Amino acid sequence: MRIGPFTLESPVLLAPMAGVTDAPFRQLCLRLGAGLAASEMVSSNADTWRTEKSKRRLVHLDPPVSDGRAPRVVQIAGGDPESLAEAARHNVGLGAEIIDINMGCPCKKVCNKAAGSALLRDEALVARILDAVVAAVPVPVTLKIRTGWDRSARNGVAVARLAESAGIQALAVHGRTRADMFEGEAEHDTVRDIKRAVGIPVIANGDIDTPDKAAAVLAATGADAVMIGRAAQGNPWIFREVAHFLATGEHLEAPSHVEVERVLCEHLEGLYALYGAEVGVRVARKHIGWYLEARPGAREFRACVMQTTDAREQLALVRAFLAEMPERQAA
Ligand SMILES: Cc1cc2nc3c(=O)[nH]c(=O)nc-3n(C[C@H](O)[C@H](O)[C@H](O)COP(=O)(O)O)c2cc1C
Repeated sequence: MRIGPFTLESPVLLAPMAGVTDAPFRQLCLRLGAGLAASEMVSSNADTWRTEKSKRRLVHLDPPVSDGRAPRVVQIAGGDPESLAEAARHNVGLGAEIIDINMGCPCKKVCNKAAGSALLRDEALVARILDAVVAAVPVPVTLKIRTGWDRSARNGVAVARLAESAGIQALAVHGRTRADMFEGEAEHDTVRDIKRAVGIPVIANGDIDTPDKAAAVLAATGADAVMIGRAAQGNPWIFREVAHFLATGEHLEAPSHVEVERVLCEHLEGLYALYGAEVGVRVARKHIGWYLEARPGAREFRACVMQTTDAREQLALVRAFLAEMPERQAA
């Protein structure tokens, strides 16, 4: 799939997830086969740009595309064309190689400011935002949407047409409306209708959690790529598994405990380095829970590992837990 001048190596993309897809996780997913990994959203409110939280979200932490890596994507969120245009310019100045506009997020904080998926109700404002951001930056601008505000107002096709005429270079569609939040199952019929209606690359998103599901969604929609969010939490291997299945029709083996240990420990070290040991330990807890949840004894281990506030101890506990897995003992 191409986005402007960039050819992506894999049609399996990481979905932006605030609080999850920070630099260490993005780099891990890219290394394990994701074709693209957008940053956590950055507010268009310039007052927030100097906070520690915003600084940690900057993509200058990712290697640039000139290093042979996937392009750096910064997702921006807001409701006002001029401030979004300014946010786009600011982030391109800091190294963004693609700007993605968030019109998919249903969370209250964003929607109270009439941003994220709340914008889908106002197509005239959508058009003004897209025009302003595309005109502001020399890099490709992409858009992420839901299928509409609610099921009686599923205007995804109309928004997709607006996006194409504004010069948006790829469109990701989460197959739920804003009112659905995360309830029920994502539907991909609207993605299929959007793909038929526009010529720009369309990316299907929502509840894609296995290689077979990815293949089925691509076949049913004709989409150019899939985007995976929650199923990558604790399972960054899903990118190579899906990409391999799409390319060959064959399933890869699940990663060994040895590989899980190596990748998880590397992930934790990356979190300690980005956030500092104290905050890093807290951020790491949810990731550890996700990585280990399906393993025997995970519940008891979780209760124990949540207690520690020390990075070295956290790492040692994780290593010890994985060393006790049956596969390791047999090896
Ligand atoms: C914890 C979390 C944070 C999210 N943050 C963002 C975000 O910052 N920007 C965005 O466009 N979507 C965000 N999303 C939505 C995801 O990108 C994705 O559209 C959604 O989770 C559906 O895909 P999935 O079923 O593969 O998880 C978030 C989702 C989750 C679970």
